[in-house]
Amino acid sequence: MPDISKRAASLGTENAFVVLAEVNALARQGRDIISFCIGQPDFPAPENVQQAAIRAIKGGKHGYTPSAGIDELREAAARYMAAMRGGLPIRPEDMVVGAGAKPFIAYAILSTTDYGAGDEVIYPNPGFPIYESVIDFLGATPVPVPLVESRGFSFDLDTFEAKLSPKTKMVILNSPGNPTGGVIPKADLKRIADLVRGRDLIVMSDEIYSRIYYEEAPESITQFEGMLEKTVILDGFSKTYSMTGWRLGYGVFPQWLSHAIERLMVNSNSCTASFTQRAGIAALQGPQDDVDVMVKEFRRRRDAIVAGLNSIPGFRCATPAGAFYAFPNITGTGLSSKALEELLMTEAGVSCLSGSAFGEYGDGYLRFSYANSLENIEEALARIRRVSSRWTA
Ligand SMILES: Cc1ncc(COP(=O)(O)O)c(C=O)c1O
Repeated sequence: MPDISKRAASLGTENAFVVLAEVNALARQGRDIISFCIGQPDFPAPENVQQAAIRAIKGGKHGYTPSAGIDELREAAARYMAAMRGGLPIRPEDMVVGAGAKPFIAYAILSTTDYGAGDEVIYPNPGFPIYESVIDFLGATPVPVPLVESRGFSFDLDTFEAKLSPKTKMVILNSPGNPTGGVIPKADLKRIADLVRGRDLIVMSDEIYSRIYYEEAPESITQFEGMLEKTVILDGFSKTYSMTGWRLGYGVFPQWLSHAIERLMVNSNSCTASFTQRAGIAALQGPQDDVDVMVKEFRRRRDAIVAGLNSIPGFRCATPAGAFYAFPNITGTGLSSKALEELLMTEAGVSCLSGSAFGEYGDGYLRFSYANSLENIEEALARIRRVSSRWTA
């Protein structure tokens, strides 16, 4: 039997899916596990969205669509993106629709860096693990920049500046961020824009959590002069409308890039499922109350989990300003993140993720996705408190 290629063997993963499979396997054996491992809102998709998908299927709207997405969705998404980002001139022809925002991470890196040419990509660490795995896989050079807890998990801007080089081809930003829940302050975005504006590089601004925030609305780097032309914006339906399994997202691309992305779509997916695209139009054009209700509930859970984690010996948890992740510093326990992740799973029946699953600078932290009921959050906190004697004794 031949081996898989070295290239395929080198591809990293997203640990959340690995741990979720373990949790599901344990649950099938009857183990009682409270899960905080996966970044998936636990709400139904809005009723009008469900109905639109059913109507599309029943109404025969189930054929191939244009690779970049159906015109009506691209128009609706362009209008929505423009309205949400202070009236930016975003055009339907700049939008490409895909099966989630995730595919565009690889497509954008693939289309802007050359394999083995020393092209550098700067990205947040701890950060969404797919950034690093894809940069590596596509033969670009990963350049992690640490997120700093005392800065609300934004970059230290001097470190960021020092990492920029003539070889930097792309800078990835993610705000609100996974796994930290941090929001990049406007002043930081301005400084980053000032630093990169004159350079021959592109920014990828992952704004998938843009509607889930608890303080001021997150800003986009595209609002600063000259930045829209050199930024890819990623957004989608998974988090905002609780549509993770529907697989629907989009990117806004500079004109010179959108054709290459469309070509990657033709070669890989042909197009995104037609009825989920129809549902996406309903999501963008319909009532937004469900989003407000969800964010309100996330805020209650955030307050409960942050207070609870801060009361556990050895834990110190900053209050996240966005997304639905708590990212406590657990260095006070004296245990490694991985050891604590395992201990909580096996002895407390609580599943979370080691911060090290999000990169080297995530070590010393755990990620709790609080997409779980308040009742389960309270029960999980009580369980963690009970086993804390393991590291306080
Ligand atoms: C930061 C970030 N970007 C992108 C994605 C991908 O989202 P999707 O492909 O479901 O749209 C996720 C999902 O967890 C994420 O956390």
